[in-house]
Order: sequence, then C-alpha cells, then structure tokens
Amino acid sequence: MQKKITKAIFPVAGMGTRFLPATKSVPKEIMTLVDRPLIQYAIDEAREAGIKEFIFVTSRGKSALEDYFDHAPQLERELRKKGKTELLETLAATNMESGAIAYIRQHHALGLGHAVRCARRLIANEPFAVILPDDVIAGEKPCLKQMIDAYEETGGSMVAAMEVPMAQASSYGVLDVKEDMGSIVSVKGMVEKPKEGQAPSNLAVIGRYILTPSVLRNLRNQDSGAGGEIQLTDAIASEIEQGRNVYGFRFKGQRYDCGSKAGFLQATVAFGLARDDLRDELAEYLDELQASRRAAE
Ligand code: UTP
Repeated sequence: MQKKITKAIFPVAGMGTRFLPATKSVPKEIMTLVDRPLIQYAIDEAREAGIKEFIFVTSRGKSALEDYFDHAPQLERELRKKGKTELLETLAATNMESGAIAYIRQHHALGLGHAVRCARRLIANEPFAVILPDDVIAGEKPCLKQMIDAYEETGGSMVAAMEVPMAQASSYGVLDVKEDMGSIVSVKGMVEKPKEGQAPSNLAVIGRYILTPSVLRNLRNQDSGAGGEIQLTDAIASEIEQGRNVYGFRFKGQRYDCGSKAGFLQATVAFGLARDDLRDELAEYLDELQASRRAAE
C-alpha cells in the first residue's frame, strides 16, 4: 500500500517568453481555452485525482493568477439578483476551500527543477505530484488519476510519457527504457533535451509527475543542466543511479502543448469543438475556411 498523494506542486514561475507580448502582463496560465484559464484545467485534473493541497510556485507579475482563485462575492450577489443560476454554478465550481492553496515564490527563473525545490518545506516527507499547467491533457479519465492508480501498484517515481517523432525528441526529456510493460515502462535513464541523434528512445516526458521526497533531496545538489537550467529530469535520473525505481506511464488521452502557439491554437479548436454550445458554429466556420483555402489553391 503506497502513501496517499494529496499534495500537488504547480510550477508557474516561468517567463512564458513564447507568448510575448501577451505575457508581459498576463500570466500564461491565465490565458483561456474557450472560457477557462489553463490553470483551471490543471486544478480540475488534480482535484479529480484526489489532491487536497495545491502549491503554486509563482514569480513577479503573477498576481492575476492569485486573484483568479479569490471568491467573488459581489459578482455572485449580482448574478443571484439576476437569477443567473447557471453562471453561479460555473463560478461555484471554481471556488477553492480556504487554506487549500499555498503560494511560494521563485525569485529567479533558474529552471523547473529549482521551481519544484522551492516548494520543499511544504512537502515534508511524502510523495507528491507535479503538474505543468501548459500541458493540457484531454481524456476520459484525467491523466493524473491514471498515474496515481498505476503508482498504487508500482510505488517509486513516475513520469507521464508519450511517443513523439524521433526528430522532435531533442525538445523533451527522454526515457531510456529498461522494460516495456505496456502502459507502464521501467526506466534505466533519462536525458533532458538530448542532442540530435542521441535520444535513447522516442518516449518523451510530459508535464505530469509523481515524485518521492528523495527527488527533492537530489535537487538540493543538482547542478544546472540542459539550457543552463536546474532540470527536474536530472534529479529524477539521479533516483535511478541511487537504486530507486522510476517508471514512465503511457497515459490515455490527447496532450496539447499550450506553452507553444500552435499547440494552444489546436487546443482552442479541439475544446471548442467538444462543446455542445459551440460545436456547430465552429465546425461550420472551419469547413468554410477549408473550402476557401482549397478554392484559392
Ligand atoms: P517552460 O519551459 O515552458 O518555460 O516551463 P516558460 O518560461 O513557462 O515558457 P517559455 O519557454 O519562456 O515560453 C515549463 C514549466 O515550468 C515552469 C513554467 O512556469 C512552466 O509551467 N518553470 C520553468 C518555473 O516555474 N520556473 C522556472 O524557472 C522555469
């Protein structure tokens, strides 16, 4: 029986340079897919996986993110007065219990590994989850829930994994597979952003992790790695060198890289088409667009 995972870290202190100029004033995690900010998708996934404590690692300029989680009594009063019960329900679903969210500052963007280490005092000696909100994963069963169910069987540390074209492997952390058991693979090594032609496989790490507290200890001594940043991948790889088990988990679902413009646009279209209130109008528009592109060719 594994220790229950009730805490999740959301590292949101990055600079989001790929979305400049928007991210000059809007945190990337507040950008909306249809009508919900990216962070809401991440929070919902965590809640459905049984997470009770939500730890945000933030930085300067992220106050809109903190404001988003405040209750809005005046707005609720107005909606109630106008009988807008559906909107009231939408708002209520975003309300968080007092004390469930903690904010920790990362003063310098030294990398994802460093951001996770900033939360160490709130983790103590228990396994925890890490969710990167810019990886949005649509699926019947939330990705983190799938992983926690698998972790109940395996223990150890576990990363979400996905096959990518070999040519793209150098943009990801990549797994060196020891044994492939289908949805779970055991891992004998991990490389962050391998040089072209040097990736040990095409199984890439995606932004969901279940980590043992020893990863936080590894991060204490972690030198900077790929891109001059303190890499979480390197601290997880050290687990393997220290004789602890690390697994990759092939999740079921569609992952959208909302940290990139193309991924964000694809997610916007996919989530729009998944909505009953938007599907017909949007699909019609996309058909027209395609027809006019064909006509122009
Ligand atoms: P990214 O590599 O996407 O970096 O970080 P970024 O700064 O968010 O975006 P770009 O590349 O400049 O456009 C992956 C995740 O790690 C967090 C980010 O907030 C994001 O959730 N992160 C990264 C930190 O919290 N701190 C860091 O120092 C670096």
